[in-house]
This record gives sequence, C-alpha cells and structure tokens, in this order.
Amino acid sequence: KEDDSSSSSSSGGGSKAITLGFSQVGSESGWRSANTDSVKASAKEAGYTLKFSDAQQKQENQISAIRSFIAQKVDVIAFSPVVVTGWDAVLKEAKAKKIPVVLTDRSVETSDESLYVTLVGSDFTDEGRRAAKMLEKVLEKAGHKGAVKIAQLEGTTGAAPAIERAKGFKEVMDADHKDDWKIVVSQTGDFTRAGGKQVMAAFLQSHPDIDVLFAHNDDMGIGAIQAIEAAGKKPGKDILIVTVDGVKDGFVAMSEGKINAIVECNPLLGPQLMEVVKKVKDGETVERWIKTKESDFMQDQAKEALPTRKY
Ligand code: AHR
Repeated sequence: KEDDSSSSSSSGGGSKAITLGFSQVGSESGWRSANTDSVKASAKEAGYTLKFSDAQQKQENQISAIRSFIAQKVDVIAFSPVVVTGWDAVLKEAKAKKIPVVLTDRSVETSDESLYVTLVGSDFTDEGRRAAKMLEKVLEKAGHKGAVKIAQLEGTTGAAPAIERAKGFKEVMDADHKDDWKIVVSQTGDFTRAGGKQVMAAFLQSHPDIDVLFAHNDDMGIGAIQAIEAAGKKPGKDILIVTVDGVKDGFVAMSEGKINAIVECNPLLGPQLMEVVKKVKDGETVERWIKTKESDFMQDQAKEALPTRKY
C-alpha cells in the first residue's frame, strides 16, 4: 500500500526540496501506529514530501516499495526492516543510484556496511537485559522464591527486536540466574495481540505451571492477559508479566495490576529521523547509530505515569 500524498507540504520552511521514501513494517502493534504517526507528522512539520508505504509485515512488499522509491528518484530512503536478513540486493540498487538509505527502528545484517548510512532506533539487546533486571524486582516484590518457570512470547521471527530482546534477556539469565530461572516455553506471537492470545493459550495448555511471562511487546502481553483470564488465572498475580514498549494500553493494563513491569521502547522517532535525513541529504557526516533514550516502569508507577504517556 503506497500512500503518495500523505505528507506533502510546503509549509515547513527550508527543506521543500527533500523527497523521502519511507517503507514501514506494517501496523501490527500500538507501537507501530505511534511510530507511523510520528514519521508522518514530523515529515509534514519539516516540509518534506513523504512517500509512505505500509509493507503489512512482508519483506517482499518492502523490497518492492524500496525499488519503487529508487525508480521515483527520491532523495533519501528510510525503512524499518521487518527482518534482519535479505536486503543486500535491493540496497545495492539504491547505492548504484546514489540514493542514501537510513534505517529506522530495526537493523539489518549485511556484509557491506556502506549499504546504509545510519540507524535511528533503540538498543533492543539492552531492552532484553533491562527486562530481566525488571523481572528480578518483580519477583522480589511478589515474594517469589526458588525456581522460576518463564514463558517467552517472541516478536516476529527474524526481526531485530525479537532476536536481540531474547539475547539480552538470556544474557542476564545465564549470568545471574542459571540455577533458578528457566525459559520453559518460547514461541513467536508476531508482535500482535491476536498472536499473543493464541500462543499464550497454547502455552497454558502445555505448561499450566508457568510463573512468569516475558512478552517482547505490550500488544502480545495484552493478548496473553486475555488467554490467562480465560484460563481462570490472574495476570500479574498467578503469572507475573514483563513486557516491552510502554504504549498507553500497556500502561492501562499495568495500572489495573495485570502487567508487573514495562521496559520502554520509544516509537516517536520521527523528529530525529527528519533531522538525520536533512543532514544525509546535505552530505553531512552522521553517527552510525543514533540511539533513543528510554526508561523502565514498575507497576506502582503506572497510575501516575499513565496521563503523561504520549503514545
Ligand atoms: O521494532 C519495534 C517493535 O516492533 C516494537 O517493540 C513492537 O511493538 C513492534 O511491532
């Protein structure tokens, strides 16, 4: 789905000449909607012509969108890659036409680092570590002693946040909790609510004794809460829950006592992205990875934080 006219504007002063092609992953989560809104609003604010395309979570759609941006001779291409591998060919085509590529949100694996200029986004491995650290606090608060049986709802298979959040979490688990924590079941819920609900229902069938759920995003966590309640258990009490993102619905669930802790992942990348796009277009050097600042929240902070949440 390409949305050509979405943010054409001439009101933003100074940057009228910039045409930005943006290929979005999809609209799988609350995080993603907030990210899309941020990109569109910031492009408008900056006065860029934005060619926006939604890939509906399919790599082939992103590849065709990027090819179409190349054919349209946009000034800069930005995209959030649905998975990490398989981009070299299309990125080489962009490079051959001298169109710079900026990654946003998610990274790629490539043997040729010159195929993209920079990544504007979060440190997902650190988010995984932070989730494990939050779980330590949650367990302590709940007075949970001894073995901890963990279920993990992974994000989209092959996507950077799924790979790296799992890695960061495991790192802390292996270093500090080798004897007591165990991931007893782990499967993808594709970052969606429906996926989270369906997979959690299956987890509860095969492992009725799960103590903890680590969900790679709020949406899957919220879907899982529905499955836990349907199974007659209390989310946040019978099963302790840690999620990532910090979208409003996540905070609502946390203020209701159903999520125990949230690791924030900031989707409001638009303003930083527009700045970087301008610099790249002007041939300025930019940092290789422009990281986002984020916080962590325990359940007792939810009610106070909820009204201040921007997404
Ligand atoms: O890439 C960021 C992740 O993608 C978010 O954590 C998740 O909600 C989204 O779908």
